[in-house]
Amino acid sequence: MKVLLIGHTGTLGKILFEGFSRMSEVELVTASRHSGDFQVAIDEVSSVKALFAAVGQVDAIVSAAGSTVFKPFTDLAPADIQQSIASKLQGQVNLALIGHPYVTDGGSITLTSGIIKEAFIPEGTSSALVNGAIESFVASAAVEIGRGIRINAVSPNALVGSWDAYAPSFRGFIPVGDAPVFAAYEKSVFGIMTGQTFKVW
Ligand SMILES: NC(=O)c1ccc[n+]([C@@H]2O[C@H](COP(=O)([O-])OP(=O)(O)OC[C@H]3O[C@@H](n4cnc5c(N)ncnc54)[C@H](OP(=O)(O)O)[C@@H]3O)[C@@H](O)[C@H]2O)c1
Repeated sequence: MKVLLIGHTGTLGKILFEGFSRMSEVELVTASRHSGDFQVAIDEVSSVKALFAAVGQVDAIVSAAGSTVFKPFTDLAPADIQQSIASKLQGQVNLALIGHPYVTDGGSITLTSGIIKEAFIPEGTSSALVNGAIESFVASAAVEIGRGIRINAVSPNALVGSWDAYAPSFRGFIPVGDAPVFAAYEKSVFGIMTGQTFKVW
């Protein structure tokens, strides 16, 4: 099974890289802006087109890429929202829209949202907006995508690997370790469910 992982060097992406690398049946192909088997900027359509033209057919697309702007609501400018949308939302949507013709029949696309969609934290509004849109996108896309292709989102809690930086904003949350996080992506890639958001918390 050929799995294209975008964002393999990040805190989340490293978990997925290690998990998929342990699977003998997986041929793992990696991409990010600055490293990997291929370079891509997911927020640029031409770059995403070039990525898939170079990679060719895959059985699974897994995205751990993209970012959002964290600011107090009263400081949030339209440009901050636009930046969050362009990176985490439009970027991942680009992977699905441009990438699905390259996914084999019965293959899968997995995007990443996050707990901030529904468990709110200080400065998290742009992230909540984007995460909600990603989850609605996969739910609707799953109905129409066809060829037996499945599309899901994974919504992680704060990760153990990010906890030193995130703890002050996530008071009362219990960060999630690598195993349950990887399991959610494994479920999306190897399971039968589609249009779902797999929550890891
Ligand atoms: N960390 C957490 O606790 C947590 C919890 C829930 C959800 N999430 C979500 O998980 C995703 C990844 O978070 P993270 O903490 O792992 O971020 P991170 O450590 O900053 O890593 C981001 C990864 O994506 C790549 N990337 C970033 N922008 C890109 C772009 N425009 N095009 C292509 N690749 C890009 C980066 O590599 P390059 O710099 O080489 O491009 C890197 O590999 C985000 O959507 C985040 O909201 C994270």
